[in-house]
Amino acid sequence: MAAIETASGAHAMGAVKVHDHWSSRIGFIIAAVGSAVGLGNIWKFPYMVGQSGGAAFVLVYLGCIALIGLPIIIAEWLIGRRGQKNPINTMAEVARANGRGRGWVLIGAGGTLAAFLILSFYSVIGGWALAYLAEAGAGSFTGIDKDSAATLFSGLLANPGRLLAWHSVFMLLTVGVVAMGVSTGLERATKLMMPALGVILLVMVGYGTTTGSFGAAVDYLFTPDWSKLDSGVVLAALGHAFFTLSLGMGVMIAYGSYLRQDIDLVRAAATVAVADTTIALTAGLAIFPIVFANGLDPSSGPGLVFVTLPLTFGKIAGGLVLGVLFFALLIFAALTSSISLLEPVVELLEERTPMGRIASSVVAGLATWALGIGALLSFNAWSDVLIFGQNIFDLLDKLTSKFMLPACGLGAIVFVAWFLDRESVRKDLDLGPVGFGIWNVLARYVAPAGVIAVFWGSL
Ligand code: TRP
Repeated sequence: MAAIETASGAHAMGAVKVHDHWSSRIGFIIAAVGSAVGLGNIWKFPYMVGQSGGAAFVLVYLGCIALIGLPIIIAEWLIGRRGQKNPINTMAEVARANGRGRGWVLIGAGGTLAAFLILSFYSVIGGWALAYLAEAGAGSFTGIDKDSAATLFSGLLANPGRLLAWHSVFMLLTVGVVAMGVSTGLERATKLMMPALGVILLVMVGYGTTTGSFGAAVDYLFTPDWSKLDSGVVLAALGHAFFTLSLGMGVMIAYGSYLRQDIDLVRAAATVAVADTTIALTAGLAIFPIVFANGLDPSSGPGLVFVTLPLTFGKIAGGLVLGVLFFALLIFAALTSSISLLEPVVELLEERTPMGRIASSVVAGLATWALGIGALLSFNAWSDVLIFGQNIFDLLDKLTSKFMLPACGLGAIVFVAWFLDRESVRKDLDLGPVGFGIWNVLARYVAPAGVIAVFWGSL
C-alpha cells in the first residue's frame, strides 16, 4: 500500500497524472483482500443467511460470486489498469481511447456516490464493534446467557448517545488513516491481522462443534430448501456478492489503476474471491451452532452476530482474551474496508476542488458522519421515520446493495466485454484459448444476463 501513498501524493500535485504502482503483487492482493474482507463477511453475511432462510441463499450467493463477481472484479481491475487514474477520469479516458461516449463516466460517478452512502451506515456498525470491544475488555461476557446478551445489545441500540459516540470514533479512525495517506504499516498489519482473524474464527468454530448443534448449523448453511428461494432472496444474494467483494463502486477500478502490466488478473481475482468467501463461511460456521444451541432466532437481523458471539466468549476457556482479540481484529478488518470506501470521495474532492488531502478527508468524513447519524437514529428515536416504507438505515443499505452496486458492476462488465477491442482484452487477461473462451461466455453473456435477470425478476 506504500505505492498508493505516493500515488495520491502525485494526484494532489498534478491533478490527474498517471500515477505510481503497487510495490509488489502481494501488496496489491493484500490491499484488495483488506477492502473485501470486512463487516460484510462477519456481520452482514450471517444475518442475511438467517433472514433468507439458509442454504438456498448461500448457494445462490456462491454462484453469484463465481459467475458474476469474479468476472466483474477482473473487469474493474482491467479498466483501472488501462486508465491509471481515479475511477471517473479512468472511465472517461478508457472510453475516449476506444471511441466510446462520455456516458461511461456514470459508472465512476455512481460508484463514488454509493461509496459515500455505504460508509455512512458501515461506520455505525463499526461503532457497534468498538462498543463491543469495550464490553469484552470490561468482562461483560463472562457468565452471559442468551437473555442478558440480548439485553446488552438492545441497550446499545436504544442509546443514541452511545451509538453516536462510537460511530464518531470509527469515523475519526477512518478519516485519520485516509488523511495520513495509506502507509506501509497498514500493509504489514493487514498481512498479520487477516490470518489472525481467520484463526480466532476457527477457534469459535471449534467451540461450535461442542455445542451439539454443529450438525444443524452445517445443514442450515449447506442443505438447501429450495422452497425458500424467491426473487427477493436471489436479489439479496446478488447484492451481497457485490457488497462483500467491494464491487460496483470504483474501489476495484481505483485499486487496478495502481497495477503493473505483469500481474495475472485472473489469478489475483480468484485469490481475493476465495479468501473473502472462506472468511464469510467460517463466520457462518462459528455463529449458527450458537444460534441453534441456544434456540435463538436466525432471522433476527443485523444484531445476530452481536448477540451470539458473546455467548461463545462467555463459555470458552480464555474467552475474555479471545473476545477482546476478536473485536479488535473485526474493527481492523472494518477499517481496511472503510478506508477503501472513503478514498474515492476524498480523491474526487482533492482533484476537483482546491482542497488538499487532509481538508478533503475531513470534509468527506464529516458529510459521511452526518448521514450516519440518520442511520443510527433508525434504531431508536427515528425508528418510525420511513421512506418508501424503510427506515434510513435499511434504505441506505438496500438502495446501495440491491441497486447501485449491481447497476455499476453491470456497466463495468458490459463495457469491457462489449465495448473494448477483444484482442486487446485477451492480451490483458493473458489467457489461453480455452480460458479466454470461458471468459467470453461469462463476461459477455452469463454475468450481464444474470444481473439483468435478477433485476427483472424483482421488479
Ligand atoms: N467489502 C467490504 C465488506 O465486506 C465493504 C466494502 C468496502 C465495500 N469497500 C466496498 C462494499 C466497496 C461495496 C463497494 O465489509
